[in-house]
Amino acid sequence: MNQFFSADDVSDFPALMEDALYLKQHPFAFSDLGKGKTLGLVFFNPSLRTRLSSQKAAHHLGLHVLSINVNQEGWTIETQDGVVMDGAAGEHLKEAAGVLAQYCDIIGIRCFPGLKDREADYREEVLTKFARYSQRPMISLESATGHPLQGFADVMTIIERQRRPKPKVVLTWAPHIKALPQAVPNSFAQWTLRAGFDLTIVHPEGYELDERFTRGATIMHDQDKALEGADFVYAKSWSSFREYGQILCHDRSWMITDEKMDRTNQGYFMHCLPVRRNLKVADSVLDSPRSLVLQQAHNRIFAAQAVMKNMLESM
Ligand code: CP
Repeated sequence: MNQFFSADDVSDFPALMEDALYLKQHPFAFSDLGKGKTLGLVFFNPSLRTRLSSQKAAHHLGLHVLSINVNQEGWTIETQDGVVMDGAAGEHLKEAAGVLAQYCDIIGIRCFPGLKDREADYREEVLTKFARYSQRPMISLESATGHPLQGFADVMTIIERQRRPKPKVVLTWAPHIKALPQAVPNSFAQWTLRAGFDLTIVHPEGYELDERFTRGATIMHDQDKALEGADFVYAKSWSSFREYGQILCHDRSWMITDEKMDRTNQGYFMHCLPVRRNLKVADSVLDSPRSLVLQQAHNRIFAAQAVMKNMLESM
């Protein structure tokens, strides 16, 4: 594998999942694979889990890690071509990517969307330009439209806990005070459908996601009905894809509570974190044995490690 931007970049999904599950049991089994090689982690946006789980995964494989919060610790990066750089940006992405390539064998990038221009965001310009100008194997650490390491870790978590061959998985929209990207729900839908789970997506009117990610899922607008018989409930807020980047609903009754979880098939609660307590999910759910959020965060290490292992083996 030379690129990990979405589930579509994975040719053998069961083998990659098997790798991740094996690495969880034997994290240092390939500790020499990355010896003498360097992973670069470039963050345009904040991170706790992605940054640290990637570093830990790299450590397990013997990789050296360089990490930078560009725009804060480095120069502000210009991402558009052909502009007169007489503003705040001191360095162009072309040079930044080329320089990174001198220091790193694999590069991971986090770059959130602007949520203003849908076409531009869904073209994934920063990610694709970094790949073009660095010519290095690239990992998305969450881009404008996807969070594949999160989707992979989430499916791994479901596989570890599933009690029937085709579990009912419900992705529910949840309230938030900010307009958030569609990256996590896009990837969650894409990965759960790829895994063959029975996926229902429930949200208020106007929050339909891009069909390219959700084709094959059942779409509903009645949350109580959607939760009936669910084995897994994944809560996430996102802004509208149709009325791009807008918050269309302020109804806080979409928060996940004990009463709502009681409608499920003794279902588990999932969230990618960070989560705003008592806005998206009640304390009592998050603090209960039903919550898998820490297991999801733990699995982020082995999802990243499986991807890095695959890339190192392809070099
Ligand atoms: N879930 C996730 O990607 O967390 P961070 O934003 O902290 O990396």
